[in-house]
Parts: sequence; structure tokens; C-alpha cells
Amino acid sequence: MARITASVFTSHVPAIGAALDQGKTAEPYWHKVFAGYEFSRQWLSENRPDAIILVYNDHATAFSLEMIPTFAIGTGERFQPADEGWGPRPVPVVQGHPELASHIAQSVIQQDFDLTIVNRMDVDHGLTVPLSLMCGEQHPQTGAWPCPVVPFAVNVVQYPVPSGRRCFELGRAIRRAVESYDEDLKVQIWGTGGMSHQLQGARAGLINAEWDNRFLDRLIDDPDALSRLPHIDYVREAGSEGIELVMWLIARGAMGDAPPRVRHRFYHVPASNTAVGHLILENA
Ligand code: DHB
Ligand code: FE
Repeated sequence: MARITASVFTSHVPAIGAALDQGKTAEPYWHKVFAGYEFSRQWLSENRPDAIILVYNDHATAFSLEMIPTFAIGTGERFQPADEGWGPRPVPVVQGHPELASHIAQSVIQQDFDLTIVNRMDVDHGLTVPLSLMCGEQHPQTGAWPCPVVPFAVNVVQYPVPSGRRCFELGRAIRRAVESYDEDLKVQIWGTGGMSHQLQGARAGLINAEWDNRFLDRLIDDPDALSRLPHIDYVREAGSEGIELVMWLIARGAMGDAPPRVRHRFYHVPASNTAVGHLILENA
């Protein structure tokens, strides 16, 4: 039987990818951000999973206003890093896990969640920046990400967005799906995006460190109550793009019911226009 061993939570700021790709990680501005992930890279190399379910949002790259799936699971063999306007990031192609992804689709849809099944899509910074942060630089041709990845895209860009509660319940359904997969796999689930940030309008640049840290506390200790937070609270307190945080509740919902072991916690302001938050939780 497969099982979820750990969850990782991290922001996905595109400028972090650019800093890595342009060799700027040692600059004073960026050094503080990357220092917060040194432990994480070591941890991942020592706790390498057989597959990662990577919950992220597409930023009008693979999807557009023409088609907006609320939840989309990547069932393909591989996913190409997208060209987001400056050429694709020089990172390896993402290898999928079609068997596990198809099983999750079957199980989660039978548990009454509607997933869009996507056999072909390009993946943007929402997915590649968390991989880079956790795995370090990878040569685009000769390097490889440490394991297959199941991309799981959530619409948090175009309203209506899914509620935190639905995301949390979806995480629970994903856990049941993984636990009913025959092969003995160690699976991690990553929740990405956030923390507080607003990229446009009168409140552009908004960051709310107090609210973010309370969110981290509650994500660890009281996720069930946290999942009941209405979406307007995210927008008011954490800015319009702070709504990306509902994706963290999918990963948290997929963890066991026992209190998790906190392996790492990091918070830093700012990276570009965003507060960076990061957690590693292991299942007891
Ligand atoms: C920034 C953050 C994001 O989450 C994003 O998708 C794009 C830009 C930023 O802080 O610049
Ligand atoms: Fe984003």
C-alpha cells in the first residue's frame, strides 16, 4: 500500500526562480531566502519519496480564460516547463506518474470530487519554483528532479475559487486514494503558493506577517478550524493573491489525523512582492 509520509508547504515566487537561474543566490537580498531552504534540501535528499503530489496553481499559462478547471490532475508521462514570457526556465522536464495519477483520479472522482484529467500541459513557476527551492539547481539536459511528480492544479486566479473547506476535504480524499494504491510507495504532498501578497490595485505590496504566522500555527495545530476560514478573510488579511494559501489546506488534509512532527519552519519578508513561508511536516 502507498502512504503519505510528509507534506511540504512553500511559496512559489517567480523571482526566486530567476535568482536561481541567473546565479544570484549569494546576493544579500536572496541569500536570506535560500538559507531558509538549506535544511529542506538536506532533508529531501535523506527522505526521498517515490512520488510527489505537487499542488500548485497555474498562472494563465496552461489554462486561460477560455477554460478554467477548478481542480486538474496531470496524468501525463511528462510535463514541459512553460515559457512564461522570458523563455522556459532552464530546468529539467517534469516526469509524471501516470499510474498513480490515474488511480488518484479514479478514487477521488468516485469520492464525489470533480477533477479535470489533463494528459498534456506545460507547468509554470507555481510548480517549478518549489521544485527548485527544495532540490537546488538542476541542469536542464543532464539533471533530473529526484522523483516523478503528479501536478495537481487548483484555480485560485479566476473567481469563483474553491473554499478552504473543500480543499481540506479534497486532501482527505487524496489521502484515501493514496492509501488504496497497491504498490508500496512513499508519497509526499506539497502545498504551494502564498503567503500574503497582492500584486495589483490600491493595496499592491500588501504583506501581513502577523496573519501569516498565525496561519502557520493553525495549519500545524488546528487545520480543521482553519479550513473554515471564508475566502474573503484571505483577501482582506493576506491580499488578493493570499488566496493561493487555500492550496496548503489540500496538502494538510492529506496528512494523518495524529498531530504531525514539525521538521522545519521558515518565514521571511520579502521576496519580490511576497512573504515567503515554508513548513515541512512529517506524519507521526
Ligand atoms: C509574485 C508572486 C506570485 O505568487 C506570483 O505568482 C507572481 C509574482 C511576486 O511576488 O512577484
Ligand atoms: Fe502565484
